[in-house]
Amino acid sequence: MEPLEYTNTQFVFVSQELYVIPSMRSLTAEEYVEAFKSFLDHSTEHQCMDEFNKKELPNIMSGLGNGKSTINVLGVGSGTGEQDLKMIRILQAAHPGVLIDNEIVEPNPQHVAAYKELVNQAPDLQNVSFSWHQLTSSEYEQQVKEKGAQKKFDFIHMIQMLYRVEDILNTIKFFHSCLNHHGKLLIIILSDSSGWATLWKKYRHCLPSTDSGHYITSNGIANILKRLGIEYCVYEFPSGWDITECFIEGDLVGGCMMDFLTGTKNFLGTAPPGLRRQLQEALCQPECSSKKDGRIIFSNNLSMIVVDS
Ligand SMILES: C[S@@+](CC[C@H](N)C(=O)[O-])C[C@H]1O[C@@H](n2cnc3c(N)ncnc32)[C@H](O)[C@@H]1O
Repeated sequence: MEPLEYTNTQFVFVSQELYVIPSMRSLTAEEYVEAFKSFLDHSTEHQCMDEFNKKELPNIMSGLGNGKSTINVLGVGSGTGEQDLKMIRILQAAHPGVLIDNEIVEPNPQHVAAYKELVNQAPDLQNVSFSWHQLTSSEYEQQVKEKGAQKKFDFIHMIQMLYRVEDILNTIKFFHSCLNHHGKLLIIILSDSSGWATLWKKYRHCLPSTDSGHYITSNGIANILKRLGIEYCVYEFPSGWDITECFIEGDLVGGCMMDFLTGTKNFLGTAPPGLRRQLQEALCQPECSSKKDGRIIFSNNLSMIVVDS
């Protein structure tokens, strides 16, 4: 008996019984927050950034501010702020006693609330002022342009967020124009050596159309910077994501990981079986992941792109 297929809902026959499979849909902002948390818990994403912070950032930070008494920082797509605060502490260490004016552009209200809570609990940020703009980067850009007077920043960062902006080239162009003389823009993005890059280039047919972000990696950003005629330098750091649970039937954590990977709510429960199988096979390819102590580690290598003003 042939399964029937409709646009929004799938009907399948299993052992002569008719089942209705709910249609595939993208993650809502709240669901994305949950899936992202699960990703962070099982990956070395933040540890990889810590390595960059330890090895390269102090030197980059020491050149900022030009001897001024206040250093202006702008975080774009800062999420819940853990990375921001780590970077601010490095900036404080590089410039003892200097005031840090930190602005944040973050559209997700849950992330903004969590960031504020993190700041409230931090005892060591007396010389730092915080102001949050609960906006997308393009809404912020529009607001700045409407006001007419453009504030300049010594350090701007866009960490793992460019996948979600509408127009990447113009977003980079605008935020680059917000840099002070001798300022730096830090872009952290997936490396072309990551499993994500392979998945997006070679196995795109395994990803559902509900995955609505841009499949952009480091080389794509480098090409944009070249087109804009902007100087930059790239640092590569290894990172991994333990996706073993994705292959355990019925595992809740694995299901959540597949949702993050595909940007789809309940991917394992709603994707056609063929697509599920194809994606699971692609994830095991050596260009995507490696085996370590019986675990499957998806490559999540990151590129840290430091852009000059
Ligand atoms: C993957 S998280 C990264 C968060 C944080 N930078 C980190 O590395 O931990 C991406 C963040 O970008 C935010 N975001 C999504 N679309 C955005 C947009 N158009 N403009 C600014 N931020 C955006 C999300 O709400 C989310 O907090």
